[in-house]
Amino acid sequence: MTDASSTPAIPVTIHRGDYRPPEWQVPDIALDFALGIDETRVSARLSVVRHADAPAPLLLRGDGITPAEVRVDGSVWNDWRMEGGDLIVDLGERTAAMVEVDTVINPATNTQLMGLYASNAMLCTQCEAEGFRRITFHPDRPDVLSRYRVRMEGDKAAFPILLSNGNCVEQGAGEGGRHWALWEDPWPKPSYLFALVAGDLVVNRDSFTTMSGRKVELGIWVRAGDEDRTGHAMQALKDSMAWDERVYGREYDLDLFNIVAVSDFNMGAMENKGLNVFNTRYILADPDTATDMDYDGVEGVVAHEYFHNWSGNRVTCRDWFQLSLKEGFTVYRDQSFSADMGSPPVKRIEDVRLLRAAQFPEDAGPLAHPIRPDSFQEISNFYTATIYNKGAEIIRMMATMVGPERFRKGTDLYFDRHDGEAATCEDFVKAIEDGAGIDLTQFRLWYSQAGTPRITARIATDERNGERTLHLTQVVPATPGQPEKAPMLIPLRIKAYDLDGGHGVEEEQLVLLDRTEMAVPLGHYRSPPMLSLNRGFSAPVIVDFAREEGELEWLAANDDDPFARYEALQQLMLDTLVTAVSGKASDAGAVVDAIRQTLTGSAADPAFVAEAVLLPSEAFIGDQMVIVDPDAIRRERLALQAAIGTALESEWRAILGQLAPAATLLTPLAKGRRRLRGVALAYLAATGMGDASELAFGIFSGADGMTERQAALATLAHGDSKERAQALDIFYRRYRDNPLVLDKWFQVQAWSLRSDTVAAVAALAEHPDFTLTNPNRVRALYGALSANQAAFHQADGAGYRLIADLVLALDPKNPQTAARMIPPLGRWKRFGDARAAMMKAELERILAQPGLSRDVTEQASKSLL
Ligand code: PHE
Ligand code: ZN
Repeated sequence: MTDASSTPAIPVTIHRGDYRPPEWQVPDIALDFALGIDETRVSARLSVVRHADAPAPLLLRGDGITPAEVRVDGSVWNDWRMEGGDLIVDLGERTAAMVEVDTVINPATNTQLMGLYASNAMLCTQCEAEGFRRITFHPDRPDVLSRYRVRMEGDKAAFPILLSNGNCVEQGAGEGGRHWALWEDPWPKPSYLFALVAGDLVVNRDSFTTMSGRKVELGIWVRAGDEDRTGHAMQALKDSMAWDERVYGREYDLDLFNIVAVSDFNMGAMENKGLNVFNTRYILADPDTATDMDYDGVEGVVAHEYFHNWSGNRVTCRDWFQLSLKEGFTVYRDQSFSADMGSPPVKRIEDVRLLRAAQFPEDAGPLAHPIRPDSFQEISNFYTATIYNKGAEIIRMMATMVGPERFRKGTDLYFDRHDGEAATCEDFVKAIEDGAGIDLTQFRLWYSQAGTPRITARIATDERNGERTLHLTQVVPATPGQPEKAPMLIPLRIKAYDLDGGHGVEEEQLVLLDRTEMAVPLGHYRSPPMLSLNRGFSAPVIVDFAREEGELEWLAANDDDPFARYEALQQLMLDTLVTAVSGKASDAGAVVDAIRQTLTGSAADPAFVAEAVLLPSEAFIGDQMVIVDPDAIRRERLALQAAIGTALESEWRAILGQLAPAATLLTPLAKGRRRLRGVALAYLAATGMGDASELAFGIFSGADGMTERQAALATLAHGDSKERAQALDIFYRRYRDNPLVLDKWFQVQAWSLRSDTVAAVAALAEHPDFTLTNPNRVRALYGALSANQAAFHQADGAGYRLIADLVLALDPKNPQTAARMIPPLGRWKRFGDARAAMMKAELERILAQPGLSRDVTEQASKSLL
């Protein structure tokens, strides 16, 4: 069933500067749902109050719905018209009215998964950003906040559980096996936070007592059979509630907090007030089916959605241009939480790796936008790594500059000032300025300028007195619509080690680079200081610094900032790889020595070691080059991996020779040891040693949990052994009824470094278990392919074709998820003329499709620029 008629492809651009306050507010809403999988009747009663000084028509947004009847103050009303999908009601001179509209919707045919839709015989909603208008007519803008009263009624056998936001205040039985429930949410909220769930669900119940002694009932709702896999999510929820009280002084504000897990979901999860809706992959976890990374994902996303209760719900966004107000801040909060729950350095490394993998390319390509965009066509396209992850970096820089106590004063003031309001990014910055006592005038450029700043560093020596000076320059690159940039305020944590007699300063300093060129006196050093720069990745920038031989090795072994140690080793690997890829002779010796040092060094944390010794991804190597040669990168990376595998064979074997920690053991140490074992196996397998496949198969078969099982399977999947086929077959048969694990089966094959991966993905798309209707499955197969650089960029263009075919097939069903597959095709400028021509041709082929959604139209047309 397609539903494309509701998303017209006329590109209308919305500008931030055009914001006008709403002419009508809706203080109260009563919704009445008569639920059915293929027919749900919705009666909405909106009490509207005019805020405009003069008469103004009431604009109620609609998307793919028609009004069955409109009533005003109790009587049938005929003064309305449709404009596009919207309903315009003329209320004459009225300043207040009760407007009632009835609509009928079909959840079963809603494949967009926006609005009210069916998933496995259950009904659920997704309203952010503009899905509420697919349920009923409404202003549907985040600066219209209402108190909701929701009555729902349905067949008790089909929908034994009826949930909405807030508290259940009444329920009862109806006629003919029907029943109903009435929910009230005391907190005014924007329509994007509305939620309703109806279905046959079981619950894991628990409770949390807040800092003021209130008992909150917690419920995680899943399909029968899944309840035993909700324990980790529940623990994460309770930990998040305690953490937000301790670190931000924020207490939960309802007596009930429910989470529902659904298998068909476009994103990770949604922070609906008191009723979070989650993609099952961020709720369900047990050692047999979830990896340690999956566990961390559950913890992080549960925290993220919970934290939104304050950063997002109590203080919401004035308009969608302010999306990073809630998302950047909330990502920063969930990152800090996860760091506190595990290892801060390892968490920082993971976050920076994600930023570099997802956000830096975005900032360097045709879809680059500031964290507070100036315009968009389809807001769904702006749930990006820039808004989320760069947004979090901007918050982190403010916190770094003022320190934790003053930052807390700033956030306290922000929550105080704007509680119950729809706020702007500017409001946040102002609150930090006032609360923390800092001038952020220049810093605000981070909100308006896109592009990753590039910093060059050089140390000069005054030969007369041995005074050393650090010379820094910054360039903010041009991005679409922003040819000229002003210099930004960039906080850089630096330290200059004195290796010769301890005359140097050796204190870490926070340099505030605030102009194009700046000189920073370092003090007196007899021999050149060893510079540690952008420690902890204090700013989301690229640093160019020509180093002397041996410096990176020294820093990798000795820097007292763990992130900087990681960074030095990564840089050493990158330099080696970039040299090799450009055809020059390169020597793996320094890398091997540095890895050996790290493996045998005193750093006890195996998770850190595993991160540090991992080779940079093919994509990140590509990001260092003007024109990317995916095949040469693949070749040289595999060669270096094999060289490291061979040179350190006994070290890798020693790691694998130790007993693996029990899969049920989820301490940071156990997780770190498993991670390091996975890395060791990958290095050994890369050598092509005779017993490598046997070794991997042994680990695969003997694994008592998914972390080791999946790592071994992924390693086997790169090769060509009989064990590969065997393991894939065993895995499939064991887990074919578990959709989340079956996703992994698709994913490891699409990640494979084999040369036939594109063909394999094309074949897997025809597999009976593949379906376009489940976004997780689509991402597992096609998302993994586009993340597989050499496969996606296969020289004959077959990878591009496959992705474009997918976009065209998926767009009529699910435009949001289809549009998210386009950005990799937009990186054509970097891959040489032959590939560029093929990539552009695919974008053009997509755009030629009649009836294309607004989502895909915007992404494909901007990607061609
Ligand atoms: N607001 C959600 C989050 O970041 C993400 C989301 C956006 C979910 C749009 C669904 C639709 O927590
Ligand atoms: Zn969020």
